[in-house]
Amino acid sequence: MTLGNNETTPMLPRRQSSNHWNKLKHKTMILRTLLVLGVLAGLVVGIAALQFWHPGAPSPPPFNDNDEWHQALDALAQDAKGCVDGLPRVPGEQYIDRQNRLFDTMQQEGVFAYVMEPSSTFLYYTNLTWTRTERPFLVVFTDDRQMTIITPAFEATRAKEQWIKANLPAGINPSMVEWVEHGSAFDTVRDVLKSHHSQSQAIQIEPTTRYFIAEGIRASVDHSVHIASQTLQQLRMVKTQEEIAIIQCTNRISVRAIETLQHHGIHIGMSEQMIAQRMIEALHRVGLTETWVLALVDANAAFPHGQPGKPHDVTPSSLILIDAGGKLYDYQSDVTRTFFIDPAAANHTIKAAWRSVRNAQQAVLDNIKAGDSCAHVDLTARNLISDAGWGDAFTHRLGHGIGLEMHEEPFMNQGNTNCFLKPGFTFTVEPGIYVPGEFGVRLEDIFLVNEHGSLDLLTDSLATDPWA
Ligand SMILES: *[C@@H]1O[C@H](CO)[C@@H](O)[C@H](O)[C@H]1NC(C)=O
Ligand SMILES: *[C@@H]1O[C@H](CO)[C@@H](O)[C@H](O)[C@H]1NC(C)=O
Repeated sequence: MTLGNNETTPMLPRRQSSNHWNKLKHKTMILRTLLVLGVLAGLVVGIAALQFWHPGAPSPPPFNDNDEWHQALDALAQDAKGCVDGLPRVPGEQYIDRQNRLFDTMQQEGVFAYVMEPSSTFLYYTNLTWTRTERPFLVVFTDDRQMTIITPAFEATRAKEQWIKANLPAGINPSMVEWVEHGSAFDTVRDVLKSHHSQSQAIQIEPTTRYFIAEGIRASVDHSVHIASQTLQQLRMVKTQEEIAIIQCTNRISVRAIETLQHHGIHIGMSEQMIAQRMIEALHRVGLTETWVLALVDANAAFPHGQPGKPHDVTPSSLILIDAGGKLYDYQSDVTRTFFIDPAAANHTIKAAWRSVRNAQQAVLDNIKAGDSCAHVDLTARNLISDAGWGDAFTHRLGHGIGLEMHEEPFMNQGNTNCFLKPGFTFTVEPGIYVPGEFGVRLEDIFLVNEHGSLDLLTDSLATDPWA
């Protein structure tokens, strides 16, 4: 993660030189391959069988808690209504503001056209829902302040319907150009560009656009084609009050959902899979879509993004990490809590690590202000964890912007020295300590740079202690 500090290490020790294989006769190679495949197949079947057959293992303890769990979910759903009911979506006029800022920036930077595929950026400017397929569906913004939708001809009716659903104010009035199935979307882009006039020759492509599209356009047009500039990319970083309210609500109810699970849904003997299932259930009850969860117990929590290895069950001394989120009105949540199941059985070393992580979040909340660099935000948390002796165990950046994307700019990374906080930035603060084979702790909350330049917490409150 550290810039200028990259290392190369072999993934696995090498057993034989590749020459050895080259020398073997073709037949022997086939025989060997078959043998290896046979052994692999045997292993796969064996492992699969072991998953279902535990000789002498106790059957999982029954959790007679369905009533408690469902009552807790009802209370959670009621609680979520507090912020979801009456929560406004981003109003239509803001899409005009967004496009105006885009056009102003394009003019300042001498950009003739900005081309994008369906993506978060596309959604940000158009509110248009479309799924990427092998047939390019593009939006082109040109510096004469026009928006053009380029659609496969046979999808034109659907594209018009989707545009009506996007329901943007009449001030935004895109034209639509169709490309026929036996024609070329890229030649259509070229023709569209020819019909607009500009001093500038520069075309910029939204960074997540697929390579065949960017290259197809480059091959068709006479202009210079580049990836979007940082300035253009970063126009989404400053959030409006309406966006902040949605981000606050979706993240707040995600924390509540974890707390509900922690207090009413987890028991000794429970598997990670069952914890994850309940977490998803809770997130759906509060109204989130596209939900996801990492539920990691004990040593598995040492893998920051989980691991496909041996699942762990909850024991009396377990430490449980839940990282979860979902989507509300297109905006994402991403929050983490780590807690002991039983305070009395909590390990002192792990408790101390938990405190360091929590103190690191507090240090950011108390000390960071607008104008500070993203690197400084990371280091403020990191120094505290290093001083406590866990520096090497905090292996990832401190956090990331959050909005239409779960991970977006700005990135709180000690190498990100050219990024400076501005009012309206929303980002995660998620320090972690990971000791492989032993434990992992992470706490993740959402911070906002408010209009006074200090930080507000968008998730209600930081975790109070490792079991509350
Ligand atoms: C944006 O589109 C969604 C449907 O995808 C719609 O519910 C919402 O009202 C639209 N926004 C505006 C400002 O109309
Ligand atoms: C507490 O956890 C640490 C870190 O995993 C471990 O080294 C230590 O042995 C544990 N202590 C006890 C009493 O289990």
